Amino acid sequence: MAWLVTGGAGYIGAHIVRAFQADGIDVVVIDDLSSGHAQFVPDGVPFVRGSILDRPLLDRTFAEHTITGVVHVAGFKYAGVSVQRPLHTYEQNVTATVTLLAAMQEAGTDRIVFSSSAAVYGTPHTDLVTEETPKNPESPYGESKLIGEWLLRDQGVATGLAHTSLRYFNVVGSGSPELRDTSPHNLFPLVFDALVEGRTPRINGNDYATPDGTCVRDYIHVADLARSHVAAARRLDAGEPVEAVYNLGSGTGVSVGEIMSTVASVTGIGFEPEIGPRRPGDPDRIVASGELASRDLDWKMRHTLDEMVQSAWTSRQSAAL
Ligand SMILES: NC(=O)c1ccc[n+]([C@@H]2O[C@H](COP(=O)([O-])OP(=O)(O)OC[C@H]3O[C@@H](n4cnc5c(N)ncnc54)[C@H](O)[C@@H]3O)[C@@H](O)[C@H]2O)c1
Repeated sequence: MAWLVTGGAGYIGAHIVRAFQADGIDVVVIDDLSSGHAQFVPDGVPFVRGSILDRPLLDRTFAEHTITGVVHVAGFKYAGVSVQRPLHTYEQNVTATVTLLAAMQEAGTDRIVFSSSAAVYGTPHTDLVTEETPKNPESPYGESKLIGEWLLRDQGVATGLAHTSLRYFNVVGSGSPELRDTSPHNLFPLVFDALVEGRTPRINGNDYATPDGTCVRDYIHVADLARSHVAAARRLDAGEPVEAVYNLGSGTGVSVGEIMSTVASVTGIGFEPEIGPRRPGDPDRIVASGELASRDLDWKMRHTLDEMVQSAWTSRQSAAL
């Protein structure tokens, strides 16, 4: 009996794999390594290398392992790039989810936890985003994640699939030094890459309607996030009720300016960030309530901002060794 983690060789998936192991639940990973790393999969975890778009491969995976549920993490996550590559985004995030759900149905696997995103909200006109906040995705990426949620909902009605979708806000930090976010588009890797290469990190705009003029976001630690997937899987295994969606947000905003000064103090590298122009479409502030997830999914912030930056920096440095 195991849970299948799609995208388990990626930044978040690899943390989820470790959280399941720590809780005594066996896992199987499927990943095509399009943005993941084989070395992120722990020794001893069965690793199927290939795409979840490959239906025969999925069928073989379900036949070879007794899989009770799926954490569906695999996806194309670059929201900005998705605007230029809508078909690729829909193929990876929508067609792939349809293929996975069909294989699950065939195999009789009836539990799924889905990696959704804050991007389903677009630019929310509220200080605190709740699950009820209107969904107005502003990129093919955000749209594809919302469609993923609908696919689960509709399969739930049609087949009794037990499901929940977790809308992540800004996932940062590291739970193990060997794991890190290698995205070329996320704030932490961009800042660290600049520092390692001797460039000055840049802030995109400092004239937003926020206390220090820089964008405010909701940063959450990847290991805290991973634990909530275990709690979700446990609830589904026990047949306990779950919400269709949960926000994994901290309720607290941190500005890009504050991130920069924390990075400077944690790394000991003194720098004054360059101020560049605003990026089109960046809202002033996005902060979410994680109240429902706290009630049901053991969700809480177990790490401070310093710890998020420190753990991410440590893993970035071990990668450079
Ligand atoms: N990182 C964030 O801040 C964030 C925020 C919101 C939502 N998410 C979502 O969380 C998930 C994981 O994000 P991440 O940051 O770990 O990204 P990541 O790119 O590190 O992980 C995605 C993994 O999925 C694999 N993959 C992609 N397409 C696949 C396919 N067709 N078949 C098999 N494997 C495939 C990749 O190789 C990679 O290992 C994504 O679905 C992303 O959209 C991430």
